[in-house]
Parts: sequence; C-alpha cells; structure tokens
Amino acid sequence: MKNLAILLSGRGSNFEAIAKSVSSGRIPDARIAVVISNKPKAGGIETARRLGLNALVIPSKGKGREEHDREVVTALQTREVDLVCLAGYMRLLSPWFVSQFPHRILNIHPSLLPAFPGLEAQEQALAYGVKVTGCTVHFVDKELDHGPIIVQKTVPVLDSDNERALAARILEQEHIAYSEAIGIVLEGRYEIAGRRLTQTRTT
Ligand code: GAR
Repeated sequence: MKNLAILLSGRGSNFEAIAKSVSSGRIPDARIAVVISNKPKAGGIETARRLGLNALVIPSKGKGREEHDREVVTALQTREVDLVCLAGYMRLLSPWFVSQFPHRILNIHPSLLPAFPGLEAQEQALAYGVKVTGCTVHFVDKELDHGPIIVQKTVPVLDSDNERALAARILEQEHIAYSEAIGIVLEGRYEIAGRRLTQTRTT
C-alpha cells in the first residue's frame, strides 16, 4: 500500500478527482495518507475533512520558505509518504524540500509545458493566441514547472473561449491526467533518460 500526500492551496478539485480514483481502485494499492494546505481557508481542506481524511493546515504566511517546508516535510515523513502530489499548491518548493523526495513529487500545470509556466497559464495561452493548449503532469525538480513530463492532454482553444471557459475544459482533462500519471509512477511503469520519460510495460 502506497501512501499519497496531497498539497493544495485552494479549491481542491484535482485532489477530489484523485480521491475518487483511489476509492474506486483506478489508482490501485494506494491511500491518501494526508492532505496539507498552506492556506487555512482552502476549500480542499474542507473536502478532505468531509471525506474523513487526515487534513492539516500548515500556514505559510509570515514564514520563510525553508522554515515552512521543514514543517511540511516533517508531517510527510511522520506519515511515511511515498508520493507527494501538488494539486493547486501555489507555493514554490525549496530545493531542500525537492531533495528530500527525489522523483517522488508530482505537479499539475494548466498548459502544455514548456509553454506558459507560472501563474495564470490559461490567460497566457489566450493572450498568446495559441490554438491548442492543455495540461501537464510532471515530476517536480528545482526549477519552476520544469521536471520530466509524465502525462500531457491537449485541449483546443475555441474562438468563443474566454479564460473561464477554457480553464474549465482544461480542468476536465487535468482530472483525468493526474490519476493516469500517479498510476504510472506508483507502479514504476517508466524509465527516464535525460528529461524524457517513456512508459514501460509491466509483465
Ligand atoms: C489547477 O488548474 C491547476 O492546474 C493549477 O491550479 C488549479 C487548481 O485547481 N495549478 C497551477 O497553476 C500551478 N502552477 P484545483 O484546486 O481545483 O485542483
């Protein structure tokens, strides 16, 4: 049984999608050991409590990055977490945090990386005028929105789109992509050469 941790800062719809995949067995042999928010009012924390999961608020406000990260890492280690999933966690991890979980931290980003890293990726895509965008689940390394890519899903940009409509269609794909990526990683069905991740078959 693998222990997942979810780190979030807001609504938590990706977390909910992951929780459904775990309870339905789409992500097999895993449980959500802890859900941690750096924001006391995050909707995702309410959901975690409602689902009877272990939900922790570790406020980041007023703390140095590494000071906060040390508290989070201690909470993860206490619960023997195997895989950390950032799900709308709007805070950069310190290099020290990343080094504690090599190839064991995933992030989801609402664009086809390396296009449009950082904040408001959907707005960036509309402003740039791309015709296709999407979402990316990737390993977290020490650079922002940068590590090896595990899964990407494409979403067309429609002439009628505004940021809200586009974000909603990307989000549907995010919910599918994240569980797929977690399955690949937990089952070890991949190899990485340089930045390139390829899936391997299980026998
Ligand atoms: C998602 O769209 C996620 O891709 C994005 O925040 C949203 C969180 O929604 N993350 C980033 O932009 C990270 N750079 P959720 O709280 O409903 O899962």
